[in-house]
Amino acid sequence: MKRSLFAIFTAVLLPFTLRAQDQPTPQWRPVYHFTAPQNWLNDPNGLIYLNGVYHLYYQHNPVENKWGHMSWGHAVSKDLLHWQHLPVAIPEIETKDTTTWIFSGSAVWDQHNSSGFGKKGRGPIVAIYTADQPKQNKESQFIAYSNDGGLTYTNYAHNPVVDIQKKDFRDPSVIWLEEQHKWLMTVAVPAEHKVQFYHSTNLKDWELISEFGNQGDTRKIWECPSLTPLYVDGDPARKKWLLMISSGNQDAATGMQYFIGDFDGKTFTNTDTTQLFVDAGKTFYAAIPYNHLPDNRHTMIGWLMPFETATAPWRGQMSIPRDLSLKTTATGIRLFQQPSSVLNTYLEKLPPAKKWQQSAISLDSKDFPISNEQQFNTNTNWIDATFTPGTATDFGLKIAQQKDGSSVVIGYNVARNELYIHAGKDKQQLKAAPVNNQIRLQVLFDKSSVEVFVNNGEKVITTLVFPDKEATGCAAFAEKGNVQLNNLNVWDLGK
Ligand code: FRU
Repeated sequence: MKRSLFAIFTAVLLPFTLRAQDQPTPQWRPVYHFTAPQNWLNDPNGLIYLNGVYHLYYQHNPVENKWGHMSWGHAVSKDLLHWQHLPVAIPEIETKDTTTWIFSGSAVWDQHNSSGFGKKGRGPIVAIYTADQPKQNKESQFIAYSNDGGLTYTNYAHNPVVDIQKKDFRDPSVIWLEEQHKWLMTVAVPAEHKVQFYHSTNLKDWELISEFGNQGDTRKIWECPSLTPLYVDGDPARKKWLLMISSGNQDAATGMQYFIGDFDGKTFTNTDTTQLFVDAGKTFYAAIPYNHLPDNRHTMIGWLMPFETATAPWRGQMSIPRDLSLKTTATGIRLFQQPSSVLNTYLEKLPPAKKWQQSAISLDSKDFPISNEQQFNTNTNWIDATFTPGTATDFGLKIAQQKDGSSVVIGYNVARNELYIHAGKDKQQLKAAPVNNQIRLQVLFDKSSVEVFVNNGEKVITTLVFPDKEATGCAAFAEKGNVQLNNLNVWDLGK
């Protein structure tokens, strides 16, 4: 009996399941968020800015639309919005006894050729990544170098450069320490909820200098760490270090946490014991900052981890590049995130038909339409709306609206001080109080991703949605009362 049921399943149902998985889903392919041309993508890797070009390497399966065959995919951009796809930069390595998957890591410009990998006095780009070797049950840190501007890499002949004989030991993030004149590697020991810090002068020989861990949220493994110096409130006299780690969030779902502390070149000391999270949604993960950005800018990209709903022929997308800053708030120093300021140039240049500005709108219980038959109906809207609460219990924005009125709701509940996203059964929320009696929502909707920056990015919540093709309406709303929409800016980044 069992056997015959199984036979029916494989013969009749399985092909359908597979076909559903492969069914192209162009309606969900984002336009201004990065996806691989085809197949699977996860973490951003080796984010580096060189000669006016933003490089984006990423965890990629070049052959299938699911995780596996991990390699570093590669794309470049001049504006963080339009990406040119390039061939795989670091492919998996297959030998008779060993499979080496190229897991996450970082890239630096070795300007003074400390590694000796450079040619003709020119500094190479050096990638530092985790070699995942399942047959050996091991992860260790490898390096590879590029002398053609990051297009192709040669693996160092004497890899690994750091090996502590563990199955889980990954995601090296390397930065240059100006004061100490040393390279610093931050790398995770996932199962032990800790990161290790290593020093090097040549990117080949590394010395363990300290560890940090078993604080904050330890419900899930720790991955993809990064350490970034930032000036609090932009004041160079108040430098703090931001340690970001991918692990569990409030609901123990996937997410990222951060620590703010001091770093003396060797040891990181957490100076705020509050549990802090980078993004309140379930999808934002594995974000790392760019290396070598000018003007003390710090910008990160994260991976929006796909939900169960399959997309094809691609799977997984990146977040919008986010500028990072630390600001003093009533509860302490907090991480603020904003869509990269580099993107403003593009928004400003959009033709008049693709942007709209309104101010001083009084909303009552009737929806205030943003889209119509001709405009803002492509599910690629970027909306910036500032509200002053009135008598309404809830207010906010509706996107991906159907003819029957149902939609994805990005709402603010006044009594609960809560920002929420309701998309069918999926409900996610975060706490956010008005600032100067205002709630500002920057909503970046791109076919299947929604990033919401609340109150200038003091809080962020990101999710994925899978609306019907026809569900393209967009409106502002108030429930059971009124609200003042002080400022509304809408841009359509669609084609
Ligand atoms: C995070 C992660 C990393 C690892 C990579 C493998 O999403 O698990 O820890 O290096 O993905 O693809």
